[in-house]
Amino acid sequence: MPGDLYYGDNLDVMRSKIASESVDLIYLDPPFNSDKTYHLILKESKSQERAFFDTWNWDDTAERAYAELTGHAPPGIRVPGRLSDLVRTLKDFLGSEQRDTMAYLAMMAIRLVEMHRVLRRTGSLYLHCDPTASHYLKLILDSIFGHDCFRNEIIWRYRRWPTKARRFQRMHDVLLFYTAGKDNEHVFETLYGYEKLADSTLKTFGTKKQKADFSSGHRKPSVESGETKGPPLSDFWEVEDVHANGAPLSDAWEVGVIAPIGKERTGYPTQKPEKLLERVVRASSRPGDVVLDPFCGCGTAIVVAEKESRVWIGIDVAIRAIDVVKDRLDKTFPGKRVWTEYGEPSDVGTALHLAETNAYDFQWWAVHKLGGRPPKGERKKGSDGGIDGEMTLRDFDSEKRRRVIISVKGQRNLTPDFVKALETTVDREKADYGVLVTMHEPSPSMRNVARDCGLVPWASAHDGKMGHRIRIIAVAEILAGTFQLPGRNEACRPDPERGPPDRRRVSSEDVGHSVRW
Ligand SMILES: C[S@@+](CC[C@H](N)C(=O)[O-])C[C@H]1O[C@@H](n2cnc3c(N)ncnc32)[C@H](O)[C@@H]1O
Repeated sequence: MPGDLYYGDNLDVMRSKIASESVDLIYLDPPFNSDKTYHLILKESKSQERAFFDTWNWDDTAERAYAELTGHAPPGIRVPGRLSDLVRTLKDFLGSEQRDTMAYLAMMAIRLVEMHRVLRRTGSLYLHCDPTASHYLKLILDSIFGHDCFRNEIIWRYRRWPTKARRFQRMHDVLLFYTAGKDNEHVFETLYGYEKLADSTLKTFGTKKQKADFSSGHRKPSVESGETKGPPLSDFWEVEDVHANGAPLSDAWEVGVIAPIGKERTGYPTQKPEKLLERVVRASSRPGDVVLDPFCGCGTAIVVAEKESRVWIGIDVAIRAIDVVKDRLDKTFPGKRVWTEYGEPSDVGTALHLAETNAYDFQWWAVHKLGGRPPKGERKKGSDGGIDGEMTLRDFDSEKRRRVIISVKGQRNLTPDFVKALETTVDREKADYGVLVTMHEPSPSMRNVARDCGLVPWASAHDGKMGHRIRIIAVAEILAGTFQLPGRNEACRPDPERGPPDRRRVSSEDVGHSVRW
């Protein structure tokens, strides 16, 4: 069964799409409140572009989350009283100096309430964070799950090149492991063989007799717990088992980060190693169980869940994350479509919504939907020099390549000046063609100006046809697949439902005309 991949804010998706008590395992690796902007490194061009922000401000969204947490939740959303008290206290404690941290915590708390709702009673949640906010997040989790449901603080220890600092090197992340229930009914598979016990330890505890002595009082009692003798013998693993299988995995995990040129690397920032997720998925779910990653990034948890035969749901608010996930899944599981996508614009209405709410994501989406890629070099808002995307087309019957410049306009009020501006860019860049993608139907005068920009040979030697040098394509045409590219776009991911791009249906506008595109 294909997994569900949602583009959108996980709060909306969880509230509207995920039923209560329907998920077995949640792994979340949210932004850590690092005050950084993260960039995706594009493999082919080695250029960068913004993936997501991890900067928080006390704005309307934070205010709304805080209001929902403190008595103004929408109907049907239950916020535990302890959590309301805690967030009020945290807001006082953090004061005006750390309002941005409070904005981050409010964003997390309201989402963790939803995660608790969707988790089955036998389910588990792993919150991946770092010491920046782990202490506050643990309080929030205690107030939602109950402190009896806290199972482990897992330390993920990694090695990286040291940085100059007047403190110890920071080389670990934290995974807070909670279960939905406190009665030990949660799914848990003990993992062996990941760690070795030191020979000296095995020697010390190497016989049953020694273990029995150890249990019945030889061990120094723990002063903090008020113990007068060691735990009962039944609490220890059999020495023979430990010898045969390796020690049961502890809560300090040494897993290497992904190498800069590692096969696994996607270029998405903050990507986690599959080996780390393998432990989480194998320990706390079984084949067929539902795994949710509400901050899925480039989809590490999803890929591992698919490999381990789990059903999965992934959500991300960054459209480029969703694109990377789809590519990664297609490459990891060639020949089968293991994902179903929701939330990306699928019709004119949803495309318009994206254009009106997130101009930057709209540009990205339109460029990709057309079959293009972002321009080379880092793309900053407002500094793209009129280029929102590019495409390279190969002639159908020769090796000749042609460069296409793409410009995207989501706004309603367009004039022929936009067409002229694109023509100037195409000239300046010495490109072959220009495509102006418009959300709204272009006016007849815009189409006339585009026609006046001249003709170039159609990228196929067999019929000697000519095409318009500047072409306007409306989003409706892209969605309907009624546009035709004058060459083979090899970079374009084939859409199994629609067939390869060069076999797309030709629009009524194209049929019967000797001049196309
Ligand atoms: C640290 S990254 C996750 C990396 C991921 N674990 C991996 O291995 O690729 C955090 C992700 O959370 C996403 N994100 C931030 N806020 C979100 C929200 N409200 N809903 C869904 N995703 C969100 C960001 O776009 C980013 O991709």
